[in-house]
Amino acid sequence: MKVVQIPLLRDNYGYLVVCETTGEAAVVDPSEGEPVLRRAEKEKVRLKAILNTHHHRDHTGGNPFLLERLPLEVYGHKVDQDRIPGMTHPLEDGDEITIGEIKAKVLFIPGHTRGHVAYLFGNKLFCGDTLFVAGCGRLFEGTAEQMLDSLSRLKALPGDTLVYCGHEYTEKNLQFALTVEPNNPKLAEKMQKVRALRANGVSTVPSTIGEEWETNPFFRWDSEEIRGSVRKNAPGISLDPVSVFAEVRRLKDQF
Ligand SMILES: [Fe+2]
Repeated sequence: MKVVQIPLLRDNYGYLVVCETTGEAAVVDPSEGEPVLRRAEKEKVRLKAILNTHHHRDHTGGNPFLLERLPLEVYGHKVDQDRIPGMTHPLEDGDEITIGEIKAKVLFIPGHTRGHVAYLFGNKLFCGDTLFVAGCGRLFEGTAEQMLDSLSRLKALPGDTLVYCGHEYTEKNLQFALTVEPNNPKLAEKMQKVRALRANGVSTVPSTIGEEWETNPFFRWDSEEIRGSVRKNAPGISLDPVSVFAEVRRLKDQF
C-alpha cells in the first residue's frame, strides 16, 4: 500500500491510502475537498471511501464537497453518526475495513472527542488528534483516564509502527516537552532534526511509535524527570499515571 500525505488548511494533514494492486483509495480526514480530489486525480487512483478519525470540522470539512462528486463510503465511530457528514458505515472497536485488497483495523480511542477512532493498516497508524508527534490532543470531550487508556493502547503497538497524525504540531510540542524533560538527550536530538526539516518546509510526519516512546511526554508518565517536573508544579500531587498525565496535559494547555 502507498500513503500520500496532503497538507490541508493551515497545519492539517489528510492522507490518501492507496491499494496499489487495484488502484482504489481512501482518504483519511479530508479537511477540504478540492485539494483531495485534485491529488487523487494526479495520483490516478479511484477514491472509494472517506475514513474520518473524529467529527471536528478540520477533519470532516471536505466530506460534503467529495460526496457531491463521488459515491463514497464514509466511515467513523457510531457515536458520531449525527456529527460526521454523510456517514454510511458506523464503526466499533475491532471492526475491519477493506480498501481494494488492503485492510485496516479500527481502534476506538476516545479522549480528544468521545467518538475518536484510529485506523491501523499493517504498521501504519492513522490516529487523528489523539496522538501527535511529541504530543497528544486536548481533552475536549473525554477524561484524562480515557485518554490515558487510549494512549496506552497506541503505546503498546510495535515500535516500528508509523504514526500518521492529523496536524503538523511537532516543533511546538517539542518546545513544551523540553520544559518538562529538559535533560532527555533524545528530545534535544529530535528538536534539532525537526528544526532542520521545518526550516525547509518539510513535514515531520510520520514518526514511529518507538520515537514517541523516547520523546513524547504523553507516553512518558513513568519518567523520573517528568514526575519531578509535575511535583514541582503541583506539590503533593499523587504520581499515579493518570495524575501525572493529567498534570502534564494541563501544563501543555497553558503553554
Ligand atoms: Fe480535533
